[in-house]
Amino acid sequence: MLERKKVYVTRNLPGPGLSMLSKECDVSLHHGHRPPARKQMLKAIAGKNGIVCMLSDRIDKEAMDVAGPKLEVISSYSTGFEHIDVAEATRRGIYVTFTSDILAETTADLTFALMLACARNIVQGDEFVRQGKWKYGWAPDLMLGYDVYRTTLGILGMGRIGSAVARRAKGFDMKVIYYSRKRRMDLEAEIGIKYVEMDELLEQSDFISLHTSLNPKSFHIIDRSKFSKMKKTAFVINTARGQLINQEDLAIALKSGQIAGAGLDVFEIEPLPGPDPLTKMKNVVLLPHIGSATYNTRSRMSVIAAQNLLNVLNGIAPLYLVNPEVMNIRPLQSQTGN
Ligand code: DGY
Repeated sequence: MLERKKVYVTRNLPGPGLSMLSKECDVSLHHGHRPPARKQMLKAIAGKNGIVCMLSDRIDKEAMDVAGPKLEVISSYSTGFEHIDVAEATRRGIYVTFTSDILAETTADLTFALMLACARNIVQGDEFVRQGKWKYGWAPDLMLGYDVYRTTLGILGMGRIGSAVARRAKGFDMKVIYYSRKRRMDLEAEIGIKYVEMDELLEQSDFISLHTSLNPKSFHIIDRSKFSKMKKTAFVINTARGQLINQEDLAIALKSGQIAGAGLDVFEIEPLPGPDPLTKMKNVVLLPHIGSATYNTRSRMSVIAAQNLLNVLNGIAPLYLVNPEVMNIRPLQSQTGN
């Protein structure tokens, strides 16, 4: 009988992913809600054939050295893969897989939730009622906010999530303008969005929503100079990556009234190290990176992460591969996924 392959999973996964893995492999699982400490993770991955990791696990050269030559696949339970040294993995013939953009719609929902929460004082209103501060019933000037419908939404990055947000915005009768690396004529015709230059987007938008990937060019793409071009009534929404915004500049812009508010699901450092000035401000809504956190989406992500890993260990192309060049270095028996 063939020896079962050894797999390390850095966190308990919602959905059927873990049982899919356990049927075919010997699975060691890191239990609990916290990520494994670095030392603990390194110890656990030694000699493994596959790893299922999260955004919070740094899989670099050192980790690959410790894992050793048996490591065939790093399957990330995420869309982003900036926590993995992909070039190093490719050089070693290690497949790096991800859950692709199946979380686009779910993340677009949360983007809208943040827009509405910021503009309509949802969090403050909830606190107000709970804390017994609502003493006089309806009042003409209680918790006035900003309209979302028929305003202008500027989307930075028109990929799967950006376009899912744009479609929702049309339901709110919003004018959607966008700036993206690649112009999307298809979506311009289909949903009636308009391509503009970055400055125009900053100057015209009532809501600016970030959906671009993080890379050296997009790092701190929103900084002090960009805030100074925005409307004083503008809201910035970030459900992409914290490092897209210079967070110190954002805190200044929020404090000085340079912009009206912000809705953030992601931060430069996660978890947000306290005490952070943002936590003291009323014109910002803060969430703990839950863009894809629905039962349905997280469960689908577990199936994809498991299937990606099993495919590679079984010599079949994974469903979503980050580094296709690896196929030249260590080809699989079947180069097409199922
Ligand atoms: C990802 O998968 O990259 C997200 O940020 C987590 O939902």
